[in-house]
Amino acid sequence: RYDGFYTQEQIKEVVAYAKKLHIDVIPEIEMPGHAQAALAAYPEYACTKGPFEVWKQWGVSENIFCPKEETFKFLEDVMDEVIPLFPYEYVHIGGDEAPKKVWKESKFVQDLIKEKGLKDELEMQSYFITRMEKYINSKGKQIIGWDEILEGGLAPNATVMSWTGIEGGIHCAKTQHKAIMTPTGTNYFDYYQGNPETEPIAIGGDLRLDKVYGYNPIPKELNAEQAKYIWGTQANLWTEYVLDFPHVQHMIFPRMMALSEVAWGTSTPSEYKNFENRVLDHFKVLEQKGI
Ligand code: ACM
Repeated sequence: RYDGFYTQEQIKEVVAYAKKLHIDVIPEIEMPGHAQAALAAYPEYACTKGPFEVWKQWGVSENIFCPKEETFKFLEDVMDEVIPLFPYEYVHIGGDEAPKKVWKESKFVQDLIKEKGLKDELEMQSYFITRMEKYINSKGKQIIGWDEILEGGLAPNATVMSWTGIEGGIHCAKTQHKAIMTPTGTNYFDYYQGNPETEPIAIGGDLRLDKVYGYNPIPKELNAEQAKYIWGTQANLWTEYVLDFPHVQHMIFPRMMALSEVAWGTSTPSEYKNFENRVLDHFKVLEQKGI
């Protein structure tokens, strides 16, 4: 099933509710990839002729935004609507998983690469992101993007969410860019947290509580000065295999408790048993809260 949208009033309600819980909600508007739903509605922003369908499966679509003037105008319009709704410093612009096949085969894109003096499609992506960054900066906000915004050159003020590993975060810290560490192996809460035979079906992977608790988001390759650019850590819960809200809670807890201690700097992996006992005690609280 695919459908649904938030009205501006509903978004305001979400932001206000989260604020009461001391949570800042940061929107992510994907570009240039993960855009097939947008292209189903606005095929004119693709490099190839539509029509496109909203995908009924998940994965990585080859149909990405085309770097035309009209596309930038459209995305700026989207930003004009989104930015006032989220009264925080950051807007996430995605950047991940954008296959370059369509750009390679597009005469328009190839001509644009030449006209702008770019080397290839990766530098084209960097041009795309940097251009959007400039617009978003002009509205008083900073951008966050996934690892892939490093390919072809990082936009000047960007913060990177490092998910494919830790190398992106290391590169950022060494070049004085902020990074948020969220590598798949330790921070993807859509992975199994227990025996797949007794857990609800998940996307794969194996991420037990002790592995989350043992994660150190500051790579050992960094010195103290560089480590200051490691802005924090986060868990990702993608919901391809997650059916409803109780299932969301099942995936988040108790691993979020472990990552919280990691983020606070209070985790002590050598004393995992102690942590585990505290988690067991805390199950009473979760139960009381209906989690
Ligand atoms: C991601 O998991 N594509 C950021």
